[in-house]
Amino acid sequence: MLQVGINGYGTIGKRVADAVRAQPDMEVVGVAKTRPNFEAEGAIENGYSLYAAIEERAERFDDAGIELTGMVDEMVEQADVVVDACPSGIGAENKSLYDEHDTPALYQGGESADVGDVSFNARANFEDAVGARHVRVVSCNTTGLSRLIAPLREEYGVEKVRATLVRRGGDPAQSGRGPINDILPNPISLPSHHGPDVKTIFPDLAIDTLGLKVPATLMHMHSINVSLEAEPGAEEVRELLESQSRLFVVPEHMDIDGAGKLKEFAMDRGRPRADFWENCVWGESISMEDNDLYLFQAIHQESDVVPENVDAIRAVTNAADARESVETTNDALGISF
Ligand SMILES: NC(=O)c1ccc[n+]([C@@H]2O[C@H](COP(=O)([O-])OP(=O)(O)OC[C@H]3O[C@@H](n4cnc5c(N)ncnc54)[C@H](OP(=O)(O)O)[C@@H]3O)[C@@H](O)[C@H]2O)c1
Repeated sequence: MLQVGINGYGTIGKRVADAVRAQPDMEVVGVAKTRPNFEAEGAIENGYSLYAAIEERAERFDDAGIELTGMVDEMVEQADVVVDACPSGIGAENKSLYDEHDTPALYQGGESADVGDVSFNARANFEDAVGARHVRVVSCNTTGLSRLIAPLREEYGVEKVRATLVRRGGDPAQSGRGPINDILPNPISLPSHHGPDVKTIFPDLAIDTLGLKVPATLMHMHSINVSLEAEPGAEEVRELLESQSRLFVVPEHMDIDGAGKLKEFAMDRGRPRADFWENCVWGESISMEDNDLYLFQAIHQESDVVPENVDAIRAVTNAADARESVETTNDALGISF
C-alpha cells in the first residue's frame, strides 16, 4: 500500500484525502493543518491522524481538545508521497521540507509552474510524471481544458483553441471573495494566465483564453471554440467526447440548464460534498461550423483535480500506467456518469 500524507486539509486537501483512502492500493498516513478549526475536527472525526503543520502552534490544538499525532515532518518522513494542498505559494515554501525527507511531492495549480519538474494531467501527459520528484497538478480550469483538448488533438489535430472562462468568484465557503454584484473582466489584459498554463501540458498548442469573474460559487463555465485540422460532424465529436471517462456529456433529456441543476444531480446521486469530478459538457452545445467546434462546459472547481491527484501519486511512484491508474481511480470513486 502506498503511504500518502496530505499537507493542507482545506477544500482540495480533504477531498484528496478521502479519494486516496478509497483507493485499493493507498493509505492516508495523516493530514496536516495549522489551526484547530472545524476542518481539524472533521479530520479526527473521519479517522485521519492529524499533524501540526507549524510546531509553535501545536499547543492551540491541545487547548481546543484536538489530539495531534505529531508534527508535519514526521508525517512527511513516513509518507511515500506527500500531496501538498496548502494555499497558493505555501507549497513552494514547503518544497525544502519534502526534499529533506527525500519524499516526492505533488503540488496544486495555485503554485507557479516551476515548483514542479512537470505539470500533470492524467489524460494528457501521465507518462511525463513517472518517477518525477516534484509534480504540479494543474488548476481546475487547466484540468478541464486539458481533458477536452487531449482527445481532440489525438483524433483530429487542433489548429487553435479559443476559450472564455466565466469563473466563480469564490468557493462556497470563501465568504470574503467576490464580486457580490458585478461582472468583472478578470484579468482585463489578454491573454488570461490560463492559456499559458494549458501550454505547460501541451507546449506546442495555439491557445488564447479570456477570463471573467461572476457572483457565483458553484462552478466555472467555459465557452469553447476549437479550430480543428479536420471537419468531423458534430455527432461524431459528441461520440468522441462521450467515450472519455472524465467528460460527462449532459444529455438533453436531463433538462439540466446550468451549474445549479448539475450540483443538484450530483447530490441526488449521493456524490460526496456534491462533487462533480468530470467536466460537464452540454450535449446540445456541441456544434461544428466548417472546422470550428463550439461547446459549453462546466467545471466543478473544488473537485475536478481530485482524481488527477490520485493518478499523479501512481505516476510518481511508478505504481501503474495511465490506463490502469485512471480505471482504478474511477472505479474507486464511482466516476461513472
Ligand atoms: N479551491 C479551488 O477551487 C481549487 C481548485 C483547484 C486547485 N486549487 C489549488 O489548490 C491549492 C489549495 O487550495 P484550497 O482551495 O484547497 O485552499 P484552502 O481551502 O484554503 O485550503 C488550504 C488549507 O491549507 C491549510 N494551511 C495553510 N497554511 C498551511 C501550512 N503552512 N501548512 C499546512 N497547511 C496549511 C489551511 O488551513 P489551516 O491554516 O486552518 O491549517 C487550509 O485549510 C491552491 O494551490 C489552489 O490554487 C484550488
